[in-house]
Amino acid sequence: MRVLVTGGAGFLGSHLCESLLVDFHEVCAIDDMFRGRKKNLESCKSLAKSIAEAGGGVPFHLVMKDGAASESYETALKRLNGSVDVVYHLAAINGTRWFNERPDLVARVNLSTLQAALDFAVTNGARFVFTSSPEAFGDQHEMPIASNSDSQFRSSAIHQRHSYGASKYLGELLIQHAVKTHSLDARIVRPFNSYGPRLPGDSHGQVVSMMLERCLAEEPIEIHGTGEQTRCFTWVEDMIQGIRSAGELDQGLDGSNLTGRAFNLGSTEETSIRKLAEICRTVTGTEISPIEVEGHPGDSERRVPDCTEARNALGWEANLPILDGIQRTWAWMKARHEA
Ligand SMILES: NC(=O)c1ccc[n+]([C@@H]2O[C@H](COP(=O)([O-])OP(=O)(O)OC[C@H]3O[C@@H](n4cnc5c(N)ncnc54)[C@H](O)[C@@H]3O)[C@@H](O)[C@H]2O)c1
Repeated sequence: MRVLVTGGAGFLGSHLCESLLVDFHEVCAIDDMFRGRKKNLESCKSLAKSIAEAGGGVPFHLVMKDGAASESYETALKRLNGSVDVVYHLAAINGTRWFNERPDLVARVNLSTLQAALDFAVTNGARFVFTSSPEAFGDQHEMPIASNSDSQFRSSAIHQRHSYGASKYLGELLIQHAVKTHSLDARIVRPFNSYGPRLPGDSHGQVVSMMLERCLAEEPIEIHGTGEQTRCFTWVEDMIQGIRSAGELDQGLDGSNLTGRAFNLGSTEETSIRKLAEICRTVTGTEISPIEVEGHPGDSERRVPDCTEARNALGWEANLPILDGIQRTWAWMKARHEA
């Protein structure tokens, strides 16, 4: 298959590109490097080199351009010799601090990149996979969240965190429109707190890496808010398997039609942020006690997926327990630090 991955130099994008290359697909990534990193793609480059040396052509391309500009897609199409089978659209501004600090940027980038990627898929007859988010449900309190639960958003005057969740909600709406008006074969996936190697751990990063980075620096882990809020942390390789199944299956394993469907992809192991801090301390052997800091405005109390649809149609469920995943992430982080 010829595959385009927007946001391909980011956390999930780089794992997705790598996984596709391992199975000998030809991959082109578009990323403007807002948060993507060339070093995330080192294993893709070495895989591509081995395949090329074995006479398999050049299977990996990187277009370092804006995913909201149609020219970026024209360049990508040329690199893929004029045809594309599946577009995985991952480009977005992700990272909680951005949602509150730059809601204007988050809304603009998330919607403009999606529109450009959608137009490209429609024009070229490609299948489309959109990485939405559980944040598309906003302040929905009823758990577990089903595939078709309602979205609820509080007044935007209270906080602007939902610049991200609302952009994902509107993104899903644009997908449904393209399915109906252009017969686009699109599928929606909603990753629930994926983690693993390469997850950003800086101040705009995600909680698992932020905690492990603090342990590495021998500084106290910061717990935002009460620490009683829970998440369902999902190992990155499990996540990539789910995203790929959504893009590769012609129809559901249960015989169902996948077009226009949305799949929650998440572990069902619910872990509080305080418990996560304890797991990180145990795995890293950190004795320093965590400290409590101000919470993020609008942070949800719980986020638990109902993955029935993914299980039935994609044959997918998360496998790796959180303790094992944190051990693997820590091993990677220490090796990177010592290199
Ligand atoms: N990681 C998760 O647990 C999670 C959860 C829910 C949803 N998602 C969604 O999955 C996708 C990937 O998430 P991630 O965790 O890998 O985030 P990430 O920030 O690592 O990856 C996003 C990538 O998009 C790129 N990008 C941003 N603006 C761009 C633009 N204008 N043009 C081209 N590239 C651009 C960034 O540079 C980055 O490499 C995102 O759409 C995110 O919203 C992720």
